[in-house]
Amino acid sequence: MSLPADKSIAHRSALFAALGDGTSTLRNFPDAADPQTTISCLRELGIQIETTGDLLTVYGRGLEGLASAGGQVDCGNSGTTIRLLAGVLSGQPFDSVLIGDESLSRRPMDRIALPLREMGAEIRLTNGHAPIEIFGSRALHGTTYKLPVPSAQVKSCVLLAGLYASGTTTIVERNISRDHTERMLGLNTITIDGKRHISVKQGLRIPAREWIIPRDFSAAAFFLVAASIIPGAHIRMEKVGLNPTRSALLDVLRAMGADIQVANESEEAGEPLGDVLVHSSELSGVTLSGEIIPIIMDEIPALAVAATAAVGRTEIRDASELRVKETDRIRATVDNLRRMGADVDEFDDGFAIAGGKDLVGAEVDSFGDHRMAMAMAVAGLIADKETVVAGASSASISFPGFWDELGHLVA
Ligand code: S3P
Repeated sequence: MSLPADKSIAHRSALFAALGDGTSTLRNFPDAADPQTTISCLRELGIQIETTGDLLTVYGRGLEGLASAGGQVDCGNSGTTIRLLAGVLSGQPFDSVLIGDESLSRRPMDRIALPLREMGAEIRLTNGHAPIEIFGSRALHGTTYKLPVPSAQVKSCVLLAGLYASGTTTIVERNISRDHTERMLGLNTITIDGKRHISVKQGLRIPAREWIIPRDFSAAAFFLVAASIIPGAHIRMEKVGLNPTRSALLDVLRAMGADIQVANESEEAGEPLGDVLVHSSELSGVTLSGEIIPIIMDEIPALAVAATAAVGRTEIRDASELRVKETDRIRATVDNLRRMGADVDEFDDGFAIAGGKDLVGAEVDSFGDHRMAMAMAVAGLIADKETVVAGASSASISFPGFWDELGHLVA
């Protein structure tokens, strides 16, 4: 089956190539809407990028090579694009305005404005949201910033501003969040008293290079769950990204009783990969909270569907970050699964599902959120009668071929 390349790594490879010294090639670059948004933003900022199928050639202009877009830079639906670019643009000698679509314009941006201002940046938000105005030519200085919420986007934003800030910029994180930025830039990371300290020094040069983008574990997650809960199903997905800060759903599903094997483990461009084989099996409920939550955050909608098929109760807590994703994913999951007859309790920071009750097909809604569309498609596979997912096309934000792949697999 054909999985898209990793969205998080794709954004970063393009951005780091643009800030790099010389010409980089990005292999396996996804045609998903979000990473393509990063490409269009970089072009607006004066970066030449050539596309030949899934091969991108990025003519990097170094840390000081970006040019003013002249107008607003549209980040579409992409939180990673807007937050990482805000960090970079805070260090430029020109002003910028970053905007996004309706969903992105509802997501909190004070979480980046706060540390950037602490570094000397001048940022104006619109009631805590985008549009974000960034005033250039401000002298940034390094800081040590303790992440109040585990967020790889905030971490990356601050570290990228740190490229332009005097001295050293350090992020301190209590709970690990996805670590692609520090891996890809080769940043110094140490653990003190159980907390990770990630540092960057002003002016760190980024060499031009080839990036090979692994297949997206977060896309594989929907098929991992589908194959686990559909009686008699099995699936093999090759060369899937298995970065431990991304693939904890494997451990969770195994703890629930899933039959999952990993074979042919290898490494490409600093990221671990492997083939993932799944056979359906009986699952039981699980209780999750604390430090595992940030590293399964994007997979929780899929996990909720697995929980409906599991024997016993599943409870997910400490996951209030789900409320500020592309949609409120706690509300959307609870609402959709209830429409399908599931027994679900909602909490401020999560939900509980009493599993083992058969789902019944219903009209559900993606609420414009790609992961909600795909999770509900999987729920539809195990439900009696027909399920209709309104706003199904939002899957193309991260996985344009999702509906075709699902069709092939079911056939
Ligand atoms: C991402 C970080 C996570 C994740 C998002 C992608 C990234 O968001 O949910 O899909 O590429 O850095 P947060 O930083 O808000 O946790």
